[in-house]
Amino acid sequence: MTLALDRPDAAVAPTIPSRRLRRLRRTAGLRALVRETRLDPSMLVAGLFVQPGAGRRDPIGSMPGVARLSPDTVVEEARRLDALGVGGLILFGLPDAKDGVGSGAWARDGIIQETLARLRDADVALPLIADTCLCEYTDHGHCGPLAQDGSVANDLAITLLAETAVSQAAAGADIVAPSAMMDGQVAAIRAALDAAGHGETAILAYAAKTASAFYGPFRDAADSAPAFGDRRGYQMDPANARESMLEISLDVAEGADAILVKPALPSLDILARAHDRFDLPIGAYQVSGEYASIVAAAQNGWLDRRRALLESTTSIVRAGASFVITYAAAEMAEWLREDPR
Ligand code: PBG
Repeated sequence: MTLALDRPDAAVAPTIPSRRLRRLRRTAGLRALVRETRLDPSMLVAGLFVQPGAGRRDPIGSMPGVARLSPDTVVEEARRLDALGVGGLILFGLPDAKDGVGSGAWARDGIIQETLARLRDADVALPLIADTCLCEYTDHGHCGPLAQDGSVANDLAITLLAETAVSQAAAGADIVAPSAMMDGQVAAIRAALDAAGHGETAILAYAAKTASAFYGPFRDAADSAPAFGDRRGYQMDPANARESMLEISLDVAEGADAILVKPALPSLDILARAHDRFDLPIGAYQVSGEYASIVAAAQNGWLDRRRALLESTTSIVRAGASFVITYAAAEMAEWLREDPR
């Protein structure tokens, strides 16, 4: 067959398509009209790191644009996020001192408890989420106390996680988010919250959380890298998708109000499957390494920061997330205000 290109004067060949998808891509207006997935600032949850002190905004080297705040600057930041229409915030604590069991996690005057109380005093309307884990508070960096053999003692860990969740609820958390990947942690936390009169506090379970290389910058920020070994004995193998459905169904049965898939971009298939199978809200966590890789490439001039962040977050929502925890919540909210999509 002779190509039409070889004979510019030839009649249009019958193989040329009449179905032309490019018609609706021609202008910005047409593209907006047929867009299937839209981001809104209310779907973004800002991840914030808080340390003791006052007036602090210490930049985190591995996460350019993110800082370690103090309770007072968290309040300032929360007001700014609220004004931008961001959907919520999740707090990670960096205590002054660590020990073998992570007692800073449930201390009544712990860094998270103090910050939550400040936010409540300041009447911040934003939903307040507390990450419920022990790894930032243990001197060995694992997510619970250690058994004789050096593994994490699951059943002791869940009682300490429950204690932590109760103290966070008492301090004003709307949602506690257990991220330690201990078996039975959601049931233990639900029972403890109810027994302590916090029946209204919701649980956002990190249900499908893998032992991912993409948490590297967070561990630097929170000084929570395990002192020995790794987390593969409790976090999921990234190779397993069916097992993540089992993790989610257990957390649902234990009383989770919403579930999280983490990391986000490496888990789009998990998000899509979870969205098909489960009818509770599903969040995705765009983790530190996802943020840092985009930002570092942008700093080198290799990626467009704005487009890469918005595209990856849109893809996460397209895959099935109804909200996204991200370190870029404020800047994305600003961009979405300028140019809603
Ligand atoms: C606590 C926790 C971690 C992250 C969120 N909660 C660290 C980990 O599991 O090692 C990582 C978040 C990120 O990388 O942005 N267990």
